Amino acid sequence: MSVSERVFPEGLDPGRVPAHVGIIMDGNGRWANQRGQPRKAGHAAGEAALFDTVEGGLDLGLQFLTVWAFSTDNWKRPPDEVRFLMEFNRDLLRRRVDELDERQVRIRFLGRRARPVPRRVISEIVDAEQRTEHHRRMTLQIAFNYGGRSELADAVQRVGEDVAAGRLDPKKIDEEAIASRLYRPDAPDVDLLIRSSGEQRLSNFLLWEAAYAEFVFTDVLWPDFRRKHLFEAVGAFQRRERRFGKL
Ligand code: IPE
Ligand code: IPE
Ligand code: MG
Repeated sequence: MSVSERVFPEGLDPGRVPAHVGIIMDGNGRWANQRGQPRKAGHAAGEAALFDTVEGGLDLGLQFLTVWAFSTDNWKRPPDEVRFLMEFNRDLLRRRVDELDERQVRIRFLGRRARPVPRRVISEIVDAEQRTEHHRRMTLQIAFNYGGRSELADAVQRVGEDVAAGRLDPKKIDEEAIASRLYRPDAPDVDLLIRSSGEQRLSNFLLWEAAYAEFVFTDVLWPDFRRKHLFEAVGAFQRRERRFGKL
């Protein structure tokens, strides 16, 4: 099938596709453990899961897909695993950017682009963003060195700078003032948040953006996750009633 030919998944309502899906890609280490392999093998196996899920996002016509690849708290892991994850993500980007470009996917990074993220990783990120910034078919946001509290702290810091510079009246600090200073203020709120591996927690992911997200937890470990699991989660999402505080 050519990259532009897409079959909308059977049984789902094309009129109620979430605009923004977030995924906490969890369970790589346990997947490897179960096979008697090193944790790195689990991370490596997560690549196939990610790219099949991206295809699924394109099948669905998602506007935004945000996947969490490395958290601000993952620096607390052994240096060897951290090093592996830095190089692995850089390498993955370099190897797969053509494919994403061909599929008209806009790649964007979500997180703090500063130390201790190695410079060469940041430059790969900037490269991938620049090459795909003109695409609008689907935006793939890769949350890397991302933490929800850091994002909010960074937004508040910008609020402070704007107040100090006289660009913002402190009496006008409202939700919009914060929302417009998040890392990617143009992204819609998260509608559906999926976490693999059976853990039922947010772990500091999109705290602001997921305020009204529907949560779907699956026991599938990330390396085994495929687009059919994404479709199942969207099915569950479509069966829910979202109320946003109203009646
Ligand atoms: C998710 O898998 C990937 C990252 C956090 C980078 P884990 O590495 O957390 O795998 P488990 O949770 O230990 O199984
Ligand atoms: C969240 O998973 C971060 C990513 C998937 C990148 P973790 O495995 O780091 O979260 P905890 O430690 O189980 O809360
Ligand atoms: Mg984990």
